[in-house]
Amino acid sequence: MSGRLGILLSGRGSNFLAIHRQIEAGALPAVIACVISDNAAAPGLEKARALGLPACFIDPAGRKKRDFEDDVARTLEAHTVDLICLAGYMRLLSPNFVRRFPSRILNIHPALLPSFAGLHAQRQALDYGVKYSGCTVHFVDEGMDTGPIVAQAVVAVQDHDTEESLSERILREEHRLYPEAIRRVVTGAYIIDGRRVLEKR
Ligand code: GRF
Repeated sequence: MSGRLGILLSGRGSNFLAIHRQIEAGALPAVIACVISDNAAAPGLEKARALGLPACFIDPAGRKKRDFEDDVARTLEAHTVDLICLAGYMRLLSPNFVRRFPSRILNIHPALLPSFAGLHAQRQALDYGVKYSGCTVHFVDEGMDTGPIVAQAVVAVQDHDTEESLSERILREEHRLYPEAIRRVVTGAYIIDGRRVLEKR
């Protein structure tokens, strides 16, 4: 796989920026072919434009999910994207979309999956009382946060943690882990064996 990345984001875009930084630093052999957002006001979209990257808003309002996703898929294909990276993308992709890009979509989730899938993962971890949480990069399959795991990083929960402080420490790990996991995938240094993503020897 060559490293043409398509980034999908809905908000802040700090993971997108972390990926961009590693590419610029020469640590990640990839290019950001396009950034797509379902939210016109996403700060991440603004940042992509400011960096001069191809960036567009695709409006989901008042349309069938199938039509909206078809636009997204066509835009990705028009930019000959090899790997789609969800970076704070707040929509669940349909099975149709996922099947169009088999094993070519990654997501980052702010918890150690399979614990605390879905929204507010950091709050879920605090409420549950776990002593360790972290983040997970995984391939996207047809479920919610259920695909094969590429990489994880562990973050210790401290007694005085709030949702904000824990999220901040997890985010720091996300910024390190996501570019590293993308590097592994675009350089083809892995095989998928059932649910397991193994290092290629
Ligand atoms: C991150 O916590 C990520 O794990 C989750 O959404 C958040 C996105 O943050 N999927 P950002 O937009 O990359 O700053």
